[in-house]
Amino acid sequence: MIIVIHFLFSTLMFYDAKTLLSNIALYLHLEKAQNTNGIHIGRSDGVNVLNTEIKTCDDCVSIRDGSKILVINGVTCGPGHGISIVSLELFKNEEPVDGVTIKNCTMTNTSNGVRIKSWPSVETGTCSNIHFECYFAL
Ligand SMILES: *[C@@H]1O[C@H](CO)[C@@H](O)[C@H](O)[C@H]1NC(C)=O
Ligand SMILES: *[C@@H]1O[C@H](CO)[C@@H](O)[C@H](O)[C@H]1NC(C)=O
Repeated sequence: MIIVIHFLFSTLMFYDAKTLLSNIALYLHLEKAQNTNGIHIGRSDGVNVLNTEIKTCDDCVSIRDGSKILVINGVTCGPGHGISIVSLELFKNEEPVDGVTIKNCTMTNTSNGVRIKSWPSVETGTCSNIHFECYFAL
């Protein structure tokens, strides 16, 4: 079964979560939801996002500090900015991002594929063990 969620402005957020998110279609209102991400994940260990279709104006999945053992498999992203590990080194006391596997995903009409965004800052942040395998549909 596919659950379809139409969003106007909001985002699905997971913090301190161990979650399986599967067979969901997230459609953000493309004219009104500027700068709105599809799914935010942070400070969570063991989140799985499977077989999910995300249409948005910003990141389809935004991965924040403290994400560990995160699996994203079978996500179709676009339009949107792709999948991003974000804001590293922006905030104090960031936890490392460690063990992110993004595979079998399809990017259609996205401005980026997978990005790691960090800031010129005095704060420190790390990310490691990142695996990425996606298809790009033209
Ligand atoms: C790849 O993703 C599709 C959904 O986009 C899913 O139906 C398929 O089972 C996935 N394949 C593997 C090998 O995980
Ligand atoms: C690609 O996405 C943009 C919005 O980001 C949209 O205006 C455009 O129509 C899309 N193009 C196609 C071919 O779907």
